[in-house]
Amino acid sequence: MNPRQNLRQDHGHIMQMLVVLHKAVKNPARRAEWIEKFEGLMDFALVYIDRCHHAKEEDILFPALEKQQNAGGDLVSRLCREHRDGHALIEAILQQFNALKSRPELSFAELTRLSERYIALYRKHIRRENAQLLPLMEACLPAARQARIMQQFQRLESESMPPRQLKAFLALLKPARDQGPAKGTTAKK
Ligand SMILES: [Fe+2]
Ligand SMILES: [Fe+2]
Repeated sequence: MNPRQNLRQDHGHIMQMLVVLHKAVKNPARRAEWIEKFEGLMDFALVYIDRCHHAKEEDILFPALEKQQNAGGDLVSRLCREHRDGHALIEAILQQFNALKSRPELSFAELTRLSERYIALYRKHIRRENAQLLPLMEACLPAARQARIMQQFQRLESESMPPRQLKAFLALLKPARDQGPAKGTTAKK
């Protein structure tokens, strides 16, 4: 696997997570089940997306592009801003979720509104990365540099997510996977 395939795989998983999140806010099933699922989705956002996937981009890939005669400066600033916006939305969603957990009489309206903003932001963000960032990476970085990046990605993955946690995250996506890939998520080889 090369860095492009690795990031596309992550993007596919994140797109599937957005499908599951959308369903979870639209149709909250039985309360206990819903709380457990939503907690899993929040962990996915904080660990798989923020801690692991964003770190691959911000700590490894973007600095490598910058060294390459500042390639992708404007694009990288925009993507970092979107990561920060996504994180702020997750913090707000978590706050609402915690309030709903302790006060079931509260309305879901705010949680739904924030989640829909998060879903829309990430769908756009991932499409932008697939269309602009990944081709830029392939065009700018020599094969040997990409091979080193792939090793750094693998190290980061194992340091940020124990295998059991990764397995649990992928299990969470199963309902989305059973329905086939979400629009715009099929990985190009
Ligand atoms: Fe990103
Ligand atoms: Fe990404």
